[in-house]
Amino acid sequence: MALVPVITIDGPSGSGKGTISQRLAAELGYHLLDSGALYRILGCVVRQQGLDLNEHEKLARVATDLDIQFGERGPGSVTVNGEDFSELIRQEVAGEMASLVGAIPAVRKALFERQLAFRQAPGLVADGRDMGTVVFPDAVLKIFLTASVEERAKRRYNQLIAKGIGAILPDLLRELKERDARDTQRAVSPLKPAGDAHILDTTSMSIDEVVARVLSLATESKD
Ligand code: C5P
Repeated sequence: MALVPVITIDGPSGSGKGTISQRLAAELGYHLLDSGALYRILGCVVRQQGLDLNEHEKLARVATDLDIQFGERGPGSVTVNGEDFSELIRQEVAGEMASLVGAIPAVRKALFERQLAFRQAPGLVADGRDMGTVVFPDAVLKIFLTASVEERAKRRYNQLIAKGIGAILPDLLRELKERDARDTQRAVSPLKPAGDAHILDTTSMSIDEVVARVLSLATESKD
């Protein structure tokens, strides 16, 4: 298992991790782990079932027992205990709930094992907050994507508007700042670059430029 190469893509919300990771996995023919989706799924289940965020051990058990299937009903689909969660987990509220459950150590521990299972030949691109620091510290290549919070809010705004979902830029900016603060200040697995990560500021880079840069680093890392 240790021989299966992993490329980790970490960074704050809206840094472009999702899009870059998908493109990279497709280019390299690797599997993809969208670890944020796991936290979002749990956040949605907590909300749906009205579970108490203070009952950490119960939440951890729920996280362990959920039947989660990615791509079972087509590319990008997410099925949880037989129910289609594909749209639900992409809502803003799911991101907020994810950030709350993600601050609970017992939940992170429960999701840790699930994440390791994604490491399958010929390789894995893992997208998240602590992929290079905690989950795959032996990754062959670690990337930390950043962008100014204003640029990230603008990207999120454009994404929502393109999907026909109403959005207010100042609200998105405030929510992103709150989420950044919670993700970077939490006691367990805070968002921070691994010591050996390549930090890429994508504020004024296009998606193609970022993908090309990471691919060239991936080629270098093989030499
Ligand atoms: O990446 P995404 O926006 O889907 O993540 C949603 C939330 O899930 C993040 O704000 C973060 O709090 C949490 N998360 C995490 N660790 C990860 C991935 C996501 O804590 N590896």
